[in-house]
Amino acid sequence: MSKIIVLMGAPGAGKGTQARLLQERLHLPQISTGDILRARAEQQDSLADEIRSVQAEGKLASDDLVGRVVQERTSQEDCRQGYILDGFPRTTAQAEMLEGLAAKQGNDISAIFVDVPSELLEKRTTGRRSCPVCGEIYNIYFKPPKVDNACDQHPNALLEQRADDTPEKVRVRLETYARETAPLLDYYQGTGRLHRVDGTRSPEEIYSDLEKILNNEVVRANPAD
Ligand code: AP5
Ligand code: MG
Repeated sequence: MSKIIVLMGAPGAGKGTQARLLQERLHLPQISTGDILRARAEQQDSLADEIRSVQAEGKLASDDLVGRVVQERTSQEDCRQGYILDGFPRTTAQAEMLEGLAAKQGNDISAIFVDVPSELLEKRTTGRRSCPVCGEIYNIYFKPPKVDNACDQHPNALLEQRADDTPEKVRVRLETYARETAPLLDYYQGTGRLHRVDGTRSPEEIYSDLEKILNNEVVRANPAD
C-alpha cells in the first residue's frame, strides 16, 4: 500500500524544509498547498485576487478550493506511489476529504507533527528567504546563504521574502493555526496515526526521525518480510 505522508506543524515549524528532503530522498512528490496557491495567485484574475488577499491576511482559503487543488494534483501519475502533503489538511472538513481520497486511491495516511515552541516561530518565519528558481529555503538567522541574499545554487537569483512573513501577519497565521488546524492533531492521535518529532533540532536530525518513523511503518505493514 502506498503512503500519504501528512506533515503537520505551525507556520515556520519546518514542514517545507522536511518535505523537500523527503522528496529528494524518497522520490515522492511534495504537495504544498501554500506553494500551489501562491503560484496561482500570480495570475491576473478574480481567483488570484481572492487567494492573494486570503494569504496576505493569514486566513485560510476555502475548503472547496483547496480540496479541488489537492484532488487534481494527487490524481497525477507521479503520485501513484504516494506523496507528501505539506500544509494540508488544515481544517476538519479537509481531513474528512483526505480520508475519502486516501480510501479511493488505496493509500495509507501517516501524520507527522513537527513540534516547535511558539517563541521560535517568529524568527523562523520572519527570517525566511527562498530562491525563486529552485525553491531552496534559507533563513537569515539559522541557515544563511553563502552570499547575502543570493541562492547558493543560483547566484544570480535574488532571494525572496514571503508577503505573509511579517511579524503582524505571522501573529494572525499562528492564531488561525491554533484555532483551525491544531485540533486535527487530536484527530490523528485518536486514530493512532500521529507521530511527533522534536522540531527544535537541526533539519538533518529531524529528518532522521522521519526516516525511522516511515521505515517502522513499512516493517509493521509487512511483518512477514
Ligand atoms: P503555507 O505556505 O503552508 O504556510 P505555513 O503553514 O504558514 O507554513 P510555512 O510555509 O510558513 O512554514 P513551514 O512549516 O513550511 O516552514 P519552513 O520549512 O519554510 O500556507 C500559507 C497560506 O496559504 C496560509 O496562511 C493560507 O492562507 C493558505 N493555505 C495553505 N494551505 C492551505 C489549506 N490547506 N487550506 C486553506 N488555506 C491554505 O521553515 C521556516 C523557516 O525555518 C525557514 O527559514 C527554514 O530555513 C527554517 N528552518 C526550518 N527547519 C529548521 C530547523 N530544524 N532549524 C532551524 N531552522 C529551520
Ligand atoms: Mg511551507
